[in-house]
Amino acid sequence: NQLDTLYRQVIMDHYKNPRNRGELEGDTLTVNMNNPTCGDRIQLHMKVEDGKIKDAKFLGEGCSISLSSASMMTQAVKGLSVEDALKLSEIFSAMMLGKEYDEGDFDLGDIEALQGVSKFPARIKCATLAWKAMEKGIKTSSEDGD
Ligand code: FES
Ligand code: FES
Repeated sequence: NQLDTLYRQVIMDHYKNPRNRGELEGDTLTVNMNNPTCGDRIQLHMKVEDGKIKDAKFLGEGCSISLSSASMMTQAVKGLSVEDALKLSEIFSAMMLGKEYDEGDFDLGDIEALQGVSKFPARIKCATLAWKAMEKGIKTSSEDGD
């Protein structure tokens, strides 16, 4: 239907013109994460200061779903507090599981284009790759006492 077509266009746009792809100067943490089912990997760089994600960029290779999701994720978490970034990640997980989700005060923006992935269980790991990297980065850095 039309909605799916629109969503597909948003995904392809992020894949072809990824936002925040590249090196990040002044990053405070780097996370490597791979999708064990295909071996694709991304490297996420974030600048986290005063409990806020000041900047986020990624490198790596993967399929259209994983790279568009990384593009959308970096766009969405920039400027959020680490708590909010983790909350947003929970919302995204619920979306991927095909569960009801309440976006609360978040502006999901382009992320909603990935909703349909929940219908393709084999691709869920592609869509969550970048989010898992973000969560791991935040959780590891808070364990360090930053
Ligand atoms: Fe082709 Fe992932 S490698 S869809
Ligand atoms: Fe490898 Fe999607 S097929 S991340």
